[in-house]
Amino acid sequence: MAVIENSKVTVVGAGSVGSSAAYACLIRGSARHVALYDIATEKVEAEVLDLAHGTQFTGSSDIVGGSDVSVAEGSHVVVITAGAKQNPGQTRIELAEVNAGIIRSMMPQLLEVAPNAIYVLVTNPCDVLTVLAQEATDLPLERIFASGTVLDTSRLRWLLAQRAGVSTSSVHAYIVGEHGDTEFALWSAATIGTVPILDWRPADGSAPFTPGELDEIAVDVRDAAYKVIQGKGATNYAIGLSSARIVEAILNDEHAVMPVSTVLHDFHGVDGVALSVPSIVSATGAAPIRETSFSPKELELFRHSADALLKVADSLR
Ligand code: LAC
Repeated sequence: MAVIENSKVTVVGAGSVGSSAAYACLIRGSARHVALYDIATEKVEAEVLDLAHGTQFTGSSDIVGGSDVSVAEGSHVVVITAGAKQNPGQTRIELAEVNAGIIRSMMPQLLEVAPNAIYVLVTNPCDVLTVLAQEATDLPLERIFASGTVLDTSRLRWLLAQRAGVSTSSVHAYIVGEHGDTEFALWSAATIGTVPILDWRPADGSAPFTPGELDEIAVDVRDAAYKVIQGKGATNYAIGLSSARIVEAILNDEHAVMPVSTVLHDFHGVDGVALSVPSIVSATGAAPIRETSFSPKELELFRHSADALLKVADSLR
């Protein structure tokens, strides 16, 4: 499929996450046209104006937006960030009911103006909402998925890189499962360069990683959002950048391996739930890599993540 010319991404929701995602798309040049849509007219118009004032410095990308859904007309990618956000101490799952209602009401309007777009859900709980949105729209599985643990994986790689004394881009490790409290690291496949994580010798001569330390790092990643929300009321920059990166992989038809969350069927015994696994992200959307391997313990954690989310989705139907 050719790289999309004159590409357009619409970010739905002009709150801190949506505005940061739009800002990240502009700065990174993720798309030729960036649109920001929100029903709050004054807010979205102010965000668009503030972003537009900086477009002299953002290369060829431009920004439009407003509170009429027609601003999403002809989008190639739609990133959905609209909805309630976590309050300090609140879990993502606790947002499920209110945000399910928002997503369900929004999808038909968006599909009317952007029927061929790839839909990326960021609104939490993004995994559960992806299942509900896919069921409500009957979009092909690859065309509606969630940012999932792309952000968590970035958090993991940053922590490991700091400790190992290497560039983040040289850390090959993934957080998989729920973008939430049941997520876990695929340690069995984690390497730094080509070196298995437990065999890595930090350049500063400090002790190698131990299994216990890796478990602590995974907990830090799982709880990272709570810590940021406690301190500043929301997370926005890293999820904005994560969203922009996903947009690029789609619009540039990269076939990039990213741990986005798609509705899985007959995947290592998991069926009918959206979870993050390493997936191929391209202009046609996201396809989970069925050859992803799990240790017996990891498979148990994966199925636990699935069971937890299946219950939540069932409660919302
Ligand atoms: C976080 C939100 C995006 O993890 O769920 O920061």
